Formats: sequence, structure tokens, C-alpha cells
Amino acid sequence: MKVVLAYSGGLDTSSILALLAGKGYDVVTVTVNVGQEDELRDVEERAYALGAKKHYTIDAVDEFAERFIAPAIKANALYEGVYPLGTALARPLIAEKVAEIALEEKADAVAHGCTSKGNDQVRFDATLKALLPPEVKILAPVRELMLTREKSMKILEEAGYPVPSTHKKYSIDENLWTRSIEGGELDDPRNEPSEEAFAWTVPPWKAPDEPLALTIRFEEGVPIAVNGEKMKLSELVAYLNKTVGSHGYGRLDHIENRVVGLKSREVYEAPAALTLIAAHRDLEKLVYTPRELRFKELADREWTDLVYQGLWMEPLRWSLEKLIDEMNKWVTGEVKVRVFKGGMLVTGRWSPYTSYSVEEIDYNRGWYPSDEEARGFIEIYTMHSRAAALARGLK
Ligand code: ARG
Repeated sequence: MKVVLAYSGGLDTSSILALLAGKGYDVVTVTVNVGQEDELRDVEERAYALGAKKHYTIDAVDEFAERFIAPAIKANALYEGVYPLGTALARPLIAEKVAEIALEEKADAVAHGCTSKGNDQVRFDATLKALLPPEVKILAPVRELMLTREKSMKILEEAGYPVPSTHKKYSIDENLWTRSIEGGELDDPRNEPSEEAFAWTVPPWKAPDEPLALTIRFEEGVPIAVNGEKMKLSELVAYLNKTVGSHGYGRLDHIENRVVGLKSREVYEAPAALTLIAAHRDLEKLVYTPRELRFKELADREWTDLVYQGLWMEPLRWSLEKLIDEMNKWVTGEVKVRVFKGGMLVTGRWSPYTSYSVEEIDYNRGWYPSDEEARGFIEIYTMHSRAAALARGLK
């Protein structure tokens, strides 16, 4: 029996690997680089030490940036207005890679380390089922054996491989876009996260006394340069994670509604994501008509919900993306941002496609509606409301 395992090198996938190899299966491990800061050589070594027959490390950082992060920026994707979707975006890509290798390796099964309480099982299974023939089984040992973190630690100890110390307290999922932290004291929503939960951001109160000034250039909705320096998207995001994070901005603490009917307390770090989405949305406000702006919010929310809910392969996601791309053709320009001690403000914006006119808005010069035009407009504009209020006797 040949199994292709989506392997992160963390606690759960390591114990699964030990379990499957212990059963005599031929396990092929796949680690997809989506910008997590793990030493991928160590992950590979651990895979072989735990019994993998073959290991693949796949570099998908640019693909992640271009196919997943770019649309998320264009859609201002913040689930429940807060979470920039990092984990949710990476899952379909990882599942795609695992499916590709399963077909190449003619595997009998694929395996992942998701629990039955989370969203990730839905995201993995959905994409795997869409891409693999039904005879390739999906194994989910954590779900099947109800493996707790404690049991996983035991399995690894018994197999003679100590638990990686970083994975003892929290369950962390990291990629270029977001660092998601769960577990430990965070499970109780009353508790303040301890400093050791964070890795990408300094505590705001320890941030530098000088603000960070950024000018971000967008072209058709995608950021292409910071402070005049052109960068490809993956580099630009990594650069902002470092610089913005070093000023203490990018921490989130969110009570989230999962796909499976549970609430969860989630702590995230996403300095680049939060900065870029705020800047992008600001530029949209400069460019769009009020109708476009209001409609876009609906399309954005639907896109974000589909991605969060594991429905990357739902046709509506493609259709919405076409619309969102089309609307982003005008989102070109520059946005000025200041980051200071854990706070971030957009302080200026410019676009060649703006319909904002300094000339028209100025109270002291330029075009003015005449008194007659203004009275006529207000008369007709407020007619519905005045007539209805009168009919209902409202005062
Ligand atoms: N709640 C987030 C999501 O469903 C993040 C999950 C992160 N997983 C983790 N092991 N920390 O997308």
C-alpha cells in the first residue's frame, strides 16, 4: 500500500508518518513551501528518520503569491472582517500538489493530519476529492483514531523521535500571508496571549519610536512596489511582514466561526496582509463609483466566505474572481501608509483613474451647483422620505 502524506513536519503529521510507516505502508511525504519559515531540509530529514520511503519538497511560494494571495488582495479578503485567510488559502494549493504526486506515484491513498473539529479537513478533502479518482482513498488518521496532541506526542516518543519543542505548546500554521496560532492558554478566550505566541511582530510597546513610512504602488489591484522599489509579490509580502511587523503592527485576536459548528479563539500575525488590504481598499474608494464600491463589498464577502469554507473549487469562486479582476483593472495608483507602535494609518492616496476632483471639491473656487439646481435636487431627492413620513405621522 502506497500513501502520499501531506507532511508539514509538525506534531500531528509526524506522528501519522510514524504510524503509517509502522504499519508497513510505503509512505511518500510531500512538504509544500508556501513561505513558512521552517528549515525545509530538517523537515526532509525528519521525514526520512520517521520512515518515509521518498520525500518531495515543492517550492510553491511564487505560485501561492500569484494564484492565491493576489486574488485575496483584490477581494480585500478578511473573513468576518478580521482574518486574512492565510491557512484557508494555502490548503487548496497543498492539496493540489499532493494530488499531483499521488497520480505520478500511482498511490493507493493520500493522507493528511486534520482533525474532525477544524476547517482544514473540509479544505483538504474537498480539493483532493475534486482532483483524484475515487479509488484513491483519503486517509485522515487524526480524525479516524481521534488522535489528541497528547496521543501524538506519545506515538512519537514511543517511535523514538522526540517532539519538536516549538510544537509543544501551540498549534501553529504558517505561510507567507498569515501565521495562525492556536492552543495552549489561547483556548480560554479570557486569557491574554503570552509573548511567546508571537514570532512576526514585536510587542507594540517595544516598537521603535520613529514611525515607518511606506508608499505602496498598485497596478490593476496588485502591489508591485514599495517606496519606489519594484518587487515581485512574494518578496514584497515578505518585506512588509518584516518591516511592518518590526513596528508592532499585524496582531489579531479573533473569536471565529468555523465551518463545523464551533467557535474558536484564533490569534494571528499578518503584518503585510493587513497593510496591503487596507491600502488596496483605500485605493478602491478613490477610484470606484459609490455603486461599484457597495457592490464590490458583496462580491468580496462571498469570495472570502467560499475560500474560508473550503470551497475553492466551487464555480462561483471562478465567476466572482472574473468580476473582481475586471473591477480591479482601475485599481492602479499609490497609497501612503504610516505604521507606528502597533497602529497603521493610510495617510494619502493617488490614482490616474480617480474621479475625485480637487477643483470640484474646493469650497473657494471652481464649479458650483447654482442655488436653483441645489434646491431642485433636494426637492426631488427627499420626496419619497417626506411623503412617507407625512403619511405615517412621524415627526
Ligand atoms: N482558523 C484558521 C482557519 O481555519 C486557522 C487554522 C490554523 N490551524 C492551526 N493549526 N493553527 O483557517
